[in-house]
Amino acid sequence: MQKKSESHSLSLITTVGDAIQWGADHFEGADLYFGHGFDNAWDEAANLVLYVLSLAWDSDSDVLYRELTEKEKVKISHLYDRRIKEQIPSAYLVGEAWFAGLKFLVDSRVLVPRSPIAELIENQFTPWLPQAPKTILDLCAGSGCIGIACAHYFPEAQITLSDISTDALAVAKQNISLHQISNRVESFESDLFAGLGGKIYDLIVSNPPYVDAEDLASMPKEYHHEPEIGLASGIDGLDFTRRLLTEAVQHLSETGVLIVEVGNSCSALDDTFPNVPFLWLEFERGGHGVFMLTADQLSEYRQEFL
Ligand SMILES: C[S@@+](CC[C@H](N)C(=O)[O-])C[C@H]1O[C@@H](n2cnc3c(N)ncnc32)[C@H](O)[C@@H]1O
Repeated sequence: MQKKSESHSLSLITTVGDAIQWGADHFEGADLYFGHGFDNAWDEAANLVLYVLSLAWDSDSDVLYRELTEKEKVKISHLYDRRIKEQIPSAYLVGEAWFAGLKFLVDSRVLVPRSPIAELIENQFTPWLPQAPKTILDLCAGSGCIGIACAHYFPEAQITLSDISTDALAVAKQNISLHQISNRVESFESDLFAGLGGKIYDLIVSNPPYVDAEDLASMPKEYHHEPEIGLASGIDGLDFTRRLLTEAVQHLSETGVLIVEVGNSCSALDDTFPNVPFLWLEFERGGHGVFMLTADQLSEYRQEFL
C-alpha cells in the first residue's frame, strides 16, 4: 500500500486500508513506542481497525478495500485518539493479544504477551527437551500465555500456572476458560515456588520480572500502563532470577529442563555467574536473552547460585 504524505481527517476516509494508513501516519508522527506485540505503526493501526470490524488478523487483503460506515469511523477514531494521547498499548485498548498463534484476553493487570519463548513453544522446544514433558510449570504466568500455549502444543501435558499477583491470576483463569482447558491447566498464587508444595516438573519455563533499574527509569510511557511487579527486578534486573536459580532444581525431574527469559539482563547474568554454561537460545523471529539449563547443571552449579 502507498504511504500518504499528507494527513486528513478520518471522517473523509472511505476504506479500511485508508483508515489503517491514516492511523499509521499519525502514530509515526506522535512519538509512540511499538514494543507490545507489534513493532511498527501500520500493524498497530491495523490491529485497532480490525478489532472495530470484528475481523481476524489473518483476514484476506481484499478487506483493505471494504468501505467503512460512519459508526465504524467514530469507533476507530476514538481508539486512535487513546493510543496517541494516553500512549496505551493497542492490546489493552482491544483487550486481547496474540501469542504462539493463540488469542489471549489481556488488561492492565497483566503484561502484554510478547515473549520470544512463543517461537520455542511453537517448535515444541525442539531440539532442547529429552522427551515431550508430561508436567510443565509456567512460573510468573501473568496472563497464562506461556503455560496455556504449552498446553496447546503439548496436548498430553499437565500444566501449572503460578504467579504472585491475585490480579494476574484472575486474568489467567479467564484465559484457561477461553481455551477450555481447565482439565489440564491449574493455577496457583505463589511467591516463586513457595505455594507449589513439592511438585516436580519436566519443564519449568519462566518469563519473570527482569528489568534493571536503569532500563526501568528510561522506559517509554507505554510500559507504565503495565504492572510494575511484572517488570522490575532490582538494580541489575536479576533479583528474581537469582532466587529462581537457587530453588528450581528442587522442582525439576531428573531429566528436567529450565528455560528462563532475562532479556537485556543476560550480560549481567553471565558476569554474575561466569562459570555457569548458560545456553542462550536463538530466535528466527527476533528476541534474545532466553537461557536454558538442565536439572543436572542446576545441581552441579548449586553452590555458585547459593
Ligand atoms: C514479565 S511478567 C510475565 C507474564 C507472562 N509470563 C508473559 O510472558 O507475558 C512477570 C510476572 O511475574 C509475576 N511475579 C513477580 N514477582 C513474582 C514472584 N515473586 N513470584 C511469582 N510471580 C511473580 C508478576 O506478577 C508478572 O505477572
